[in-house]
Amino acid sequence: MHIKTIFGPLVLLLSFALGSCSESETEPGPEPEPEPEAEAGRWYSQTQVDTGTMVFADNCAQCHGDNAEGLVSDWRARLDDGSFPPPPLNGSAHAWHHPNSVLLQVINTGGAAFGGNMPAFENVLNEADKLAAIAYFQSYWNDEIYAQWQKMGGSN
Ligand code: HEC
Repeated sequence: MHIKTIFGPLVLLLSFALGSCSESETEPGPEPEPEPEAEAGRWYSQTQVDTGTMVFADNCAQCHGDNAEGLVSDWRARLDDGSFPPPPLNGSAHAWHHPNSVLLQVINTGGAAFGGNMPAFENVLNEADKLAAIAYFQSYWNDEIYAQWQKMGGSN
């Protein structure tokens, strides 16, 4: 009887903790599409890069350059309005410091929150197209940059 009163709440607590744990593990959205074989050592497939080439040309290239090379000589120098110019995304700037979850967040929300000029793509592109755009500009990253990025969280 004494034991029961101690263990009752404990069991409840445990099953609650386990329950919420398995819930968060199964949460992340719809099943990922089965993708064709990934590029060697990369998280994305050539098909995603091909899709991303079109997505990027239509939505990103006017600011970030056709080959994600950027359009300004110094992406670190503020413009007259205090905002930063669009940086290169080809591995020569800063984008590789961010795991995919953060890159997606930038693409979704744009730069408005911090006085930046990047538009928000949350309701403009679907998830697959956003990931394809990321695959496209990451296809310019050499293996060294890619390995650094993986240490920063990579495709998480
Ligand atoms: C109108 C210009 C413009 C367009 C179009 C645009 N961006 Fe940007 N982007 C910017 C600017 C400017 C920044 C720098 C942050 C800021 O000020 O908003 C930026 C920052 C980023 C960053 C963060 C880079 C880093 O080093 O942290 C990523 C990633 C990015 N853009 C991806 C994209 C993708 C993908 C698209 C197309 C779907 C796109 N952008 C379209 C202007 C643009």
